[in-house]
Amino acid sequence: MKLWGGRFTKPTNQLVEEYTASIGFDQLLVEEDIRGSLAHVKMLGASGILSPDEMEIISNGLTTIRDRVRAGEVEFSVSLEDIHMNIEQLLIEEVGPVGGKLHTGRSRNDQVALDMHLYVRARTLEMIQGLLAVQKALVMQAEAHVDTLLPGYTHLQRAQPVRLAHHLLAYAEMFGRDVERFMDSYKRVNMMPLGAGAIAGTPFPIDREQVAAELEFDRLYENSMDAVSDRDYLVEFLANASLVMVHLSRLSEELILWSSEEFGYVELDDAFCTGSSMMPQKKNPDVPELIRGKTGRVMGHWVALLTTLKALPLTYNKDMQEDKEGVFDTVATLSGALALTAPMLEGMNVKTDRMRQHAEEGFAAATDVADYLAAKGVPFREAHAVVGRLVLHCIQEGETLSGLSLDAYRKFHPAFEADIHQRIHVEAVADARDVRGGTARNRVLSALKQKKEQLDETLAWLDTV
Ligand code: ARG
Repeated sequence: MKLWGGRFTKPTNQLVEEYTASIGFDQLLVEEDIRGSLAHVKMLGASGILSPDEMEIISNGLTTIRDRVRAGEVEFSVSLEDIHMNIEQLLIEEVGPVGGKLHTGRSRNDQVALDMHLYVRARTLEMIQGLLAVQKALVMQAEAHVDTLLPGYTHLQRAQPVRLAHHLLAYAEMFGRDVERFMDSYKRVNMMPLGAGAIAGTPFPIDREQVAAELEFDRLYENSMDAVSDRDYLVEFLANASLVMVHLSRLSEELILWSSEEFGYVELDDAFCTGSSMMPQKKNPDVPELIRGKTGRVMGHWVALLTTLKALPLTYNKDMQEDKEGVFDTVATLSGALALTAPMLEGMNVKTDRMRQHAEEGFAAATDVADYLAAKGVPFREAHAVVGRLVLHCIQEGETLSGLSLDAYRKFHPAFEADIHQRIHVEAVADARDVRGGTARNRVLSALKQKKEQLDETLAWLDTV
């Protein structure tokens, strides 16, 4: 007999039962479900809807079931459809018919919304922790490599020399914005839907504020229909997660390129690579490759949920059961990626000589040669053309900008003087960008300091929630 079997004359078709059941995945919500029920029954008791005895029996029953679940002693049943009805049935078996009073003033529609809010609220904080760990790893490497210069790239062509710290801190900025996004969406996750009932509220004199306080929610849903049909907070979570994955994927792509023999800028720790079953020389960057590869599925979950919601009329529709697997998979995928990225960055061996060699040997200082002439009063457009011819000359003669003599420079423009060589030294080129957000040593140092302060602020925020 189903918990809702009263108005039915036949048992459910076997295939229907399997097709509609969510217990296969929503058992992940077991802790949240029991926690929500404990708060609900406490309120039913305090409001006089249940007697103190009934409240006590049901609470103890729920606690016993939670212990049994934690001990791995409970097997869930598909015929009971979902986690909510499985727990309710277990409760009735545990404490007898009085267990059937737990669901007073509540529907699975507001119950499942509550469970998901509790689940995503905790996971949001975990994602922020993971993002902090990745940023800490970036800061650690940045601190070690303020004076490591490498070519910065545009169009994947060497553009201008930058400090490795600056390059890494660009990623820390992205992850910092990701943290802000999760902190902001947290406000909309931290809302309490219970009390909406199936759609319209409940005639029982419940105390929604008490349940919210018990479960440490900041706000209540103010509209019962919105409470049971809102999945915006899940869409936001998936959107935030997608963007984090995109950032991790871009970082991964750079690590993959940088660890190739062609670049040779970093070597990933052996513990984070795998070999080839056939080619003995291979050391493959599987971890960043997989992070890059798994980004698509997280983005897919976001699009899938939006699509599910797109034409749904109010309020709860069974379609909404489809919100869970994508969110669960996203949590697993993103936390795995964050947990691996931090130690991978920390253990990465940087080939500073190779980076410097590339920064020096290209034409990364060409803009600075043009700026040099411009500073001497040559119109920048003319200076650009002069340096273009200089670069062409170097390419044709197998020369470099730093290798050319002053005489050679003067053949291209009389404004060149003895200080030109010093001006195009990679450090000088980086230090010339002495603007806020630029590559000058002091600017990079203050960016590092600022980033560390931001990480401390996030830690302090985590203490307040
Ligand atoms: N398993 C359902 C879900 O995840 C719970 C809510 C079911 N409500 C209902 N009226 N069938 O969406």
